[in-house]
Amino acid sequence: MSQLTQSVCQPENTQQAITQNQSKPAPPCTLVIFGGAGDLTKRLLIPSIYNLQAAGLLPENFAIIGVARADKNDEQFRADLSEEIKAFATTQVEETIWKQLINKVYYLRGNFDEAPTYEALKLRLDEIEKIHNTGKSRLYYLATGAEYFPKIAELLGQTDMVKQEEGVWRRVIVEKPFGTDLQSAEALNRSLLSVLEENQIYRIDHYLGKETVQNILVFRFANGLFEPLWNNKYVDSVQITVVESVGVENRGNYYDKSGALRDMVPNHLFQLLTMTAMEPPTSFQPDAVRSEKAKVLQAIHPLTDEQVRTQTVRGQYSSGVIKGKEIPDYRNSPKVNPQSETETFVAMKLFVDNWRWAGVPFYLRTGKCLPKKRSEIVITFKKAPFSLFRGEDVGSLEPNNLILHIQPEEGISLQFGAKIPGPKVMLSGVEMDFNYHDYFGQSSSTGYETLIYDCMIGDATLFQRADNTELGWKVVDPMLKLWQSEKADFPNYVAGSNGPAAADELLARDGRAWRQIK
Ligand code: BG6
Repeated sequence: MSQLTQSVCQPENTQQAITQNQSKPAPPCTLVIFGGAGDLTKRLLIPSIYNLQAAGLLPENFAIIGVARADKNDEQFRADLSEEIKAFATTQVEETIWKQLINKVYYLRGNFDEAPTYEALKLRLDEIEKIHNTGKSRLYYLATGAEYFPKIAELLGQTDMVKQEEGVWRRVIVEKPFGTDLQSAEALNRSLLSVLEENQIYRIDHYLGKETVQNILVFRFANGLFEPLWNNKYVDSVQITVVESVGVENRGNYYDKSGALRDMVPNHLFQLLTMTAMEPPTSFQPDAVRSEKAKVLQAIHPLTDEQVRTQTVRGQYSSGVIKGKEIPDYRNSPKVNPQSETETFVAMKLFVDNWRWAGVPFYLRTGKCLPKKRSEIVITFKKAPFSLFRGEDVGSLEPNNLILHIQPEEGISLQFGAKIPGPKVMLSGVEMDFNYHDYFGQSSSTGYETLIYDCMIGDATLFQRADNTELGWKVVDPMLKLWQSEKADFPNYVAGSNGPAAADELLARDGRAWRQIK
């Protein structure tokens, strides 16, 4: 992320104007994936590593070791991945490129919480590092259940496998969930930091791997046009929506303990919030960016119990139909408690108490089983201060909206009023649209490529620092606590609807409305 390069796009010649990738291959290293036989590895990690290989961004001197409990050897692991890549690759897999990669892949069977696994890993690494001449630098990817994170770090420390020296780095990528509340996140940070330096820990949030999310910073800070308006003088309110049409599917085991708040808010939604609200950093260096994000989280007005009742909404879906498919009640989903009080929808109004944002409400919502998948940020500007058209029947004067479309549409649009052609002055809302794909072509990445590559080159800009994770939990902790103590009136929205009526009322009370999920 810190390696910003520039290219000038001529709209009439957009396809050739794609930014040249000027990145160099990462330095020699070995990638150790704990959870090597798991879902994340086959669905996202290996396809992104393949994409990095195809883009020439992996070093020649490179190897991968998958560590997992499943009973496999190197050959079986390679054969399985070679099958799975066909289903999960984001591009056509080229045999020669795949061969180059798969011949560097190894497997070690072992339990993550037992010391002998790490003794065996150490020996295996010594061998493999010699074969592939990778040097001693290593990236450990914790793609296991969160309950293993502290133990894996502890055992890596005990076996001396995270020690860095001149020219040798050892880094650890930690997957989500990063704790389940403030206390557990603090405990996890403490246990990781008892073995590792902060600069060795890369806490991943896959939202930061999305091009459109990274583009928020570029859009704001590489353009002179919008930043002067980006404050409480001109902005009326901000809406952040991350909703999906899928339900809990077969993740009941995890989701019923987590719920929408923990699953999405302190991580993904707060990434979008902090990138929208942060001050310009002094550089794109990791700590400059992460410190500005931390300041936003620190400035979020903490909610009292009463404010949790009035400024937040929780919901759970009942059966319904989405895209012609019958969806069962959340409570009737596999591995979900039939009396579950877990929320599948959350909406809230937050205030960022600083000079830039004082008085501007930030409305956030996320949920499952809504009509469509949609992630977007809507900046609504204040209406023109003086209406020239007062007393005239001109139609409606709508506020200007700037919409940052994160997914599935990827782009930016600006809504403003224009005169409808004709002798009478009549206004209509119109839209100016920038679509990522039209300019830059279809993206074929998983979103993990940038993050894995950044970790290999030691750029932590797109990763969370310990304080960022804790500050996120600090904001949502009052909600978690109150909701645990007060019974919810669930289910309260039908699958396929826009969420609970209370979420609409939250904005209606302020004279506003959510942008429709169409
Ligand atoms: C994950 C959550 O972190 O993000 C899921 O655990 C959610 O519940 C997913 O579906 C959404 O990610 P994306 O990239 O599909 O918006």
